Amino acid sequence: MIKFVDISKEFKEGVTARKVKALQNLSLEIEQGQIFGFLGPNGAGKSTAIKILLNFIFSDSGQATIMDRDVGDKNVRSFVGYLPESPYFYDYLSAEELLWFGGRSSGMTRDAILQRSNLLLDKVQLQEARKRPLRTYSKGMVQRAGLALALIHNPAVVILDEPMSGLDPIGRKMVGDIILELKGEGKTVFFSSHILSDVERFCDQIGIIVGGQLRRTSRVADVLQQGDTLEDVFLREVYAAGLKEVR
Ligand SMILES: Nc1ncnc2c1ncn2[C@@H]1O[C@H](COP(=O)(O)OP(=O)(O)OP(=O)(O)O)[C@@H](O)[C@H]1O
Ligand SMILES: [Mg+2]
Repeated sequence: MIKFVDISKEFKEGVTARKVKALQNLSLEIEQGQIFGFLGPNGAGKSTAIKILLNFIFSDSGQATIMDRDVGDKNVRSFVGYLPESPYFYDYLSAEELLWFGGRSSGMTRDAILQRSNLLLDKVQLQEARKRPLRTYSKGMVQRAGLALALIHNPAVVILDEPMSGLDPIGRKMVGDIILELKGEGKTVFFSSHILSDVERFCDQIGIIVGGQLRRTSRVADVLQQGDTLEDVFLREVYAAGLKEVR
């Protein structure tokens, strides 16, 4: 469903143009219906990989595909939903208007948008605030509006960059429940997170990336069966990669 084949990406950072290998030969496949948690310390390359999937930035080499189509194919976006790491929206819009524009740009009909918006605003608990401009929202409310926007066109593939960040425990549970519901509908979810307890709760598979290199992929059930926690596995991989500095 989602495939990275030998993807590499280098950035030039700062005034010295120091080269950073953000991704090194990343190969990874996520099957349909899987919930995949992409883990890694700050600066590991998670958002870079996600932006390549969304075709916002281009890899230097390798290929990324979604449903066997190159991510550069303009039709791909119609079945992909995306929540960015720090969602920023035109803040004079209300949540209702945000979903309206999202639905229109996905070619949805008026009735379909109204019906789906209603359902999603319920799910992310923004019904009461739906007519208020986003600039009056708290951080968690903006995050939840962003999640509703990602799902407006009922995409088969959902890509979320740290969907729990900035949410209180109730919001985190709500997002977790939405992800589980997507799984129940057979959707494929690829998301990055630092909250390992959440990942443990609802992911089928994890991938751990450190310094642009994918260190391992595992089924969560296998990790737990071996008596490890995800934190054990995560820390082991990070230390084995020799990462010392906090970025
Ligand atoms: N536009 C850019 N220009 C220069 N360097 C960049 C750019 N984007 C990312 N990088 C660098 O690439 C590396 C990977 O960054 P990325 O944002 O993918 O990490 P991440 O795993 O998402 O981290 P976090 O957990 O903090 O969100 C970092 O060293 C970062 O500084
Ligand atoms: Mg990131």
